[in-house]
Amino acid sequence: MNTSKSNEIWNRSLKIFPGGVNSPVRAYKSVGEHPIAIKEGHGSYIFDEDDNSFLDFVNSWGPMILGHADQDVSAAIAKQAVNGASFGAITRYECDLGELIVNNIKHIEQIRFVSSGTEAVMSALRLARGFTGKNKIIKFEGCYHGHYDGMLVKAGSGLLTFSGDISESSSPGVPEGFSRETIVLPLDDEELVTQAFKNYGNDIAAIIIEAMPANSGLLKQRIDFIKFLRKITKENKSLLIMDEVITGFRLGFSGFCGKYNIDPDLVTYGKIIGGGLPVGAFAGKKEIMQNLSPAGKVYQAGTLSGNPLAMVAGFTTLKKLLEKDVYQKLNKLSALLITEFNDKIKKLLKDKKYNIQLIVEDSIFWLNISNTADVDIRKVTDIWDGAADIYSKIFWKMLESGVHMAPSAYEVGFLSYPMEEKDIHLFVESLENAIKTS
Ligand SMILES: Cc1ncc(COP(=O)(O)O)c(C=O)c1O
Repeated sequence: MNTSKSNEIWNRSLKIFPGGVNSPVRAYKSVGEHPIAIKEGHGSYIFDEDDNSFLDFVNSWGPMILGHADQDVSAAIAKQAVNGASFGAITRYECDLGELIVNNIKHIEQIRFVSSGTEAVMSALRLARGFTGKNKIIKFEGCYHGHYDGMLVKAGSGLLTFSGDISESSSPGVPEGFSRETIVLPLDDEELVTQAFKNYGNDIAAIIIEAMPANSGLLKQRIDFIKFLRKITKENKSLLIMDEVITGFRLGFSGFCGKYNIDPDLVTYGKIIGGGLPVGAFAGKKEIMQNLSPAGKVYQAGTLSGNPLAMVAGFTTLKKLLEKDVYQKLNKLSALLITEFNDKIKKLLKDKKYNIQLIVEDSIFWLNISNTADVDIRKVTDIWDGAADIYSKIFWKMLESGVHMAPSAYEVGFLSYPMEEKDIHLFVESLENAIKTS
């Protein structure tokens, strides 16, 4: 594979961007660096600067459910662009997108747009604290909620006993004061959540959880666990915040909460909601949302919030999701992926020192490389630490055969609407060859 132009761009990037990138995972660090530079994308394919083409399962880490350069979305952006990009005033474009969402998702009554998932989470947490008058937040190990200080924390030594510090910062630059307000617990453990409420119940403003944790592999939770979180937050006058930045508009239009009938207090969105442009949102019950400034006292604002270009891109995307057979088609493709994987890949693995388990939820999938038989994997500590080396080899072999997967063993893949059955066959064939030759 010729990568001379990509390498040239990588060398330019290294000089001007810290680590060569504007977001860490793009540096391909966990697969040995030398990322490919993408020039354009059309449908299910992306093209690099050296004119190599790749069937794309990254899809910009989730937003591009309609594939790249969807004609309707591109036309809507182009039409709006000639009429002005930003006004800092109310517009009908934000009403169009807001109404589409609120009128079609029964568990939310009001919404506020921001410009990223991180901002959505940060704002939802402030609102939860402002509304409840409490300070602490429970989050779960392995769940990523963006790079807001209070969420860049990991479980500390006091986790099991709750004596001493509860959590530690996971990044320099996050003051201890922030991590003291975040309680990090393992997923899938009702007892520890109960214990946390016993110890800090009066001061727990909210539990936040990735609706279906998809940032450390795909850790499907027991629905009973999520229902338990709903119950215990209600009993303690805390809020339940479901982070649907990945699952929103992906697991059906109303996301995980719609699919599994969960009634959260607040939901956070990002990725698909902006159709590829920078949009995030947080939404929920009117009684809570009304506490936001200027209706209430909790301050939150943004110069580019509700940006017209982003709003029309999001509106056109979400309208297509409602009106076309997007979810039916994607689910058919993922069913085919499961069948093909079981038919072709499973038997190859009998002779290998590792196993690969395909974990799928609608159009999200993860290849769990492990040293055990297939199991229900729900916690980050269940992930095998030998996976990264094996994945790295598989990743490069697949890339060379024209299949673009995430450059990390712990990231999920996404199907897109323009994909066809032949693309699923190509994926499985490419994985088959990668396993055979690595
Ligand atoms: C579940 C979840 N929440 C929040 C975020 C942060 O979103 P953003 O990268 O748009 O700031 C992400 C990003 O991947 C995410 O996956």
